[in-house]
Amino acid sequence: MKLNYSLVTRRTFINTLFGGWLAAFAAGSLYALFKFAFPTLGKEPDFVVLKKADFLDIPVNSVKPFAWGGKLGLFFKKENGTTQALKGVCTHMECNITYRPDVKRFYCACHKGWFDESGKNIEGPPPKPLEFFDVTIEGDRLIVAKKGVKVELPKA
Ligand code: FES
Repeated sequence: MKLNYSLVTRRTFINTLFGGWLAAFAAGSLYALFKFAFPTLGKEPDFVVLKKADFLDIPVNSVKPFAWGGKLGLFFKKENGTTQALKGVCTHMECNITYRPDVKRFYCACHKGWFDESGKNIEGPPPKPLEFFDVTIEGDRLIVAKKGVKVELPKA
């Protein structure tokens, strides 16, 4: 069957095309503006420099948070006094984790994921262990770096 007229007028077609182009342009502009306003959002650094005095004296069997770029980092002092730093983000869907000193485990409340003290995923959906960092002390600074990253700070 042949129609004598089109269901879409030329004007509607052109308006739809222009509207789509305008929407794509607006979305692209908003995205660029957002990235400009929050340049570090979601990015992770290779290392961070912290004040040693703020972290080394925390009680045993506890953690202290620090900013790992836009994510959570945790400085952890075990019961035996040894210290470690790790990314405080679950390996399942990137929720922040908490340390439960009563059971000496890390817990992710999003889907009930558990990690032991060494960061090994032991229960729930997390597919792999937590990410630990290298920690070095230079003077009054505590340098937390991704594994294998060499950090050379300028001498003060
Ligand atoms: S995000 Fe942690 S268990 Fe799902």
